[in-house]
Amino acid sequence: MSNTEKILILDFGGQYTQLIARRVRECHVYSEVVPWNMPLPEMLSRNPRGIILSGGPSSVHDADAPRIDPALYEAGIPVLGICYGMQLTALLLGGAVEKAKEREYGRVTVRMKEQTGLLGGMQRSSSCWMSHTWQVSACPPGFRIIAETDNCPVAAMVSDEKKICCVQFHPEVTHTEEGTMLIRNFLFRFCGCSGDWTMSAFAENAIRQIRETVGDTGTVLLALSGGVDSSVVAALIYKAIGKRLTCVFVDHGLLRKGESDQVCHVFSHLFPVRFIRSDASERFFADLKGVTDPEEKRHIIGRDFIEVFRAEAIKLGKMDYFAQGTIYPDVIESGQGTNAAVIKSHHNVGGLPRELGFTELIEPLRMLFKDEVRALGEALGLPRELVRRQPFPGPGLAIRIIGEVTPEKAEIVRESDAIFREEIAASGLDRHVNQYFTVLTGIQSVGVMGDERTYDYTIALRAVTTDDFMTADWARLPYDLIARVSSRIVNEVPHASRVVLDVTTKPPASIEWE
Ligand code: XMP
Repeated sequence: MSNTEKILILDFGGQYTQLIARRVRECHVYSEVVPWNMPLPEMLSRNPRGIILSGGPSSVHDADAPRIDPALYEAGIPVLGICYGMQLTALLLGGAVEKAKEREYGRVTVRMKEQTGLLGGMQRSSSCWMSHTWQVSACPPGFRIIAETDNCPVAAMVSDEKKICCVQFHPEVTHTEEGTMLIRNFLFRFCGCSGDWTMSAFAENAIRQIRETVGDTGTVLLALSGGVDSSVVAALIYKAIGKRLTCVFVDHGLLRKGESDQVCHVFSHLFPVRFIRSDASERFFADLKGVTDPEEKRHIIGRDFIEVFRAEAIKLGKMDYFAQGTIYPDVIESGQGTNAAVIKSHHNVGGLPRELGFTELIEPLRMLFKDEVRALGEALGLPRELVRRQPFPGPGLAIRIIGEVTPEKAEIVRESDAIFREEIAASGLDRHVNQYFTVLTGIQSVGVMGDERTYDYTIALRAVTTDDFMTADWARLPYDLIARVSSRIVNEVPHASRVVLDVTTKPPASIEWE
């Protein structure tokens, strides 16, 4: 993507950093999050049109606070500093940062002193999201104050000459009414971007790059899960190199009801490439026996995937490249490339290709958010039902069974999940609820069925609305629908005797239970 207009976002560990990347991309400008300590020459070699400094939890006065090379400000590249990024800029360029008299948190009215440049088109007074204890008390030489609040005399400042803009509030958060306008102003007025980044352009570029990488004779092995991500990768690679692509689909016995057959059916029709289905359920269940720890389950499944793949790859003979559908949130949540903490070890990042002896990787979606992958799938002409399909985690139902995973429990969660999906689809809510599934909780509870006492499993319903799967809200499903699902589950699924509803947002909970 060397010719694409690009914005680099330096991550100082702020909780909203990924949102900055999304807002920029929503303006049709490509953006990448990089660690704050990336050496300046490396940043410049990426040829960014602008650099955004994110917020972060540190105080600029801490001895170990992240610092950047001040030469960044002399590189002739426009800079937007947000919160910590603003304070750091002020300090490095000769201004002052002090503790605010009152910590500002939440929606605050910001008075804009001008309606041009960075603040072009914005109202005189606008509601903005603040979250800070420290603030700029004196601008560096050459800067002008362009916004203030009752408690914060320098809510925004700018140096037109150096093309450096700074805001104490968070324009990337939707609670900031006119945040997107401010980001647009930075991109289009300061960085001179044209906003030509589209999914068709991305697809063309990705196909060309795959062709260049693989060459005229190279072969590619794709780990296919049948989900949106790996299907989109299959489409891109098929368009780039045709039948030199081989797809391997591992059935670990922890897929949703009917899914394995459906994947085989769709792929044999959509892409006439070599398709190998490997049924390895016995092995996975054997290795998961007695294991209850979520991370251990993930590691075992990841390791078994590798083994099964290795066996298939040996049968296939030498393949040159390994492809997988890693997407940006996988990269971020695995703590690669940024300062984010490791939240869960996503098995589809890292391990597999190295273990198989591949040094050459093809991961065309590595920098895309989920909704962008769907848009790309549509741009590539994939069927809507495939592209709009809800995500399904690589470790499958294993992380929706709390406690030990057994074939019997997999059956309970699979059947209850099928009922939930059926009812959601019948109510037409499948287009509005982004992910929904059942969880077999580890709780058994007492019930009565007929005249008998029962002591059976509790099923939780999890349904969320989300754009990017990084944050999520629990879906407000109609009571009637919940009632129908509950009644069907306890009546139709053996050993399910109670149904509960998960009403937790992400954060603090994650979408999956493990
Ligand atoms: P969490 O549970 O982290 O999930 O809020 C966010 C999204 O990621 C999916 N997920 C995974 N996908 N491999 C995957 O391919 C995994 O190991 C994995 N774990 C979670 C989850 O279903 C949700 O859509």
